[in-house]
Amino acid sequence: MKNIMLLTILLFTYGCFQQTPSPAVRTPLPENDFLIIAHRGASAYTTGHTLAAYEMAVQMGADYIEIDLQMTKDGKLVALHDSVVTLHDVKQAVADVTFDDIQLHSPGQELVKNPLSYAFPNFSDLRIVDLSEILDHFGDSVNYYIEIKSPKMYPGIEKELLLQLGEHHLLNKEDITPKVIIQSFDADSLKEIHALDPSIPLTQLYKFGKKAKLSKKALKELSQYASGVGVNVHAVNRDFIEAIHKKGLLVLPYTINDENTMRQLMKLGVNGIFTDRPDVASRVKNEQSSLDQ
Ligand code: G3P
Ligand code: CA
Repeated sequence: MKNIMLLTILLFTYGCFQQTPSPAVRTPLPENDFLIIAHRGASAYTTGHTLAAYEMAVQMGADYIEIDLQMTKDGKLVALHDSVVTLHDVKQAVADVTFDDIQLHSPGQELVKNPLSYAFPNFSDLRIVDLSEILDHFGDSVNYYIEIKSPKMYPGIEKELLLQLGEHHLLNKEDITPKVIIQSFDADSLKEIHALDPSIPLTQLYKFGKKAKLSKKALKELSQYASGVGVNVHAVNRDFIEAIHKKGLLVLPYTINDENTMRQLMKLGVNGIFTDRPDVASRVKNEQSSLDQ
């Protein structure tokens, strides 16, 4: 009898501590808008990731400014696409140098070496900036689309990012268009962010060699933490868009700079695009909304 009671107590205690699977909590992204995400700022016209590129993007009507993040040896989150910089003609990992070291590397000089035909001619005030300077500069007057690059190289980057966003009062806002969206090619990094703060909408980045396609299993897993997907434009197709939409997620192709492709993608039903030319995207979006009226 004693044994049966003991067993009952044990089973009850075990049951209490068993974790029941909680339903996926995701913050939805706006479905009825077409989001213009300025890829590294208005990077067709000036050096990407600089304050000038971001200012220009805002003036051109971008809904979001996109920022790639790396982390320096002294723990600064720096707006840079590559995990390697060339300092004094020597290539070095961002993780091995300080932010002050990196500032010796002028992005404007790169543009002079490799000028774009439609680039603006003033390179003098372009410099690499860290995230806190961008957040101080724009505050909550813009929306941020932040990419965590190479997170495996930067342990703790997720926590540092959330800390800075919190310090700048950019989290848990009630806006219909979220103030901050975080993206990465690294699913583990996104899942970590989701565990730390499920209120932040996340988009999973993919680069497909052929037509974009995800298995049922992958779609199910994705919808546990993500609110959308970023996908290379050449892989986008109708079936993929439908499959992602069926899961309640948005499709945001990258990187589109010509207006005909923008129009085609709008017709296909994507929910926004990454572009180096937010002025062109704004024009196409306006043109489309006047046609719809
Ligand atoms: O977010 C889309 C796009 O930015 C990902 O590619 O290489 O330009 O950062 P990349
Ligand atoms: Ca990016």
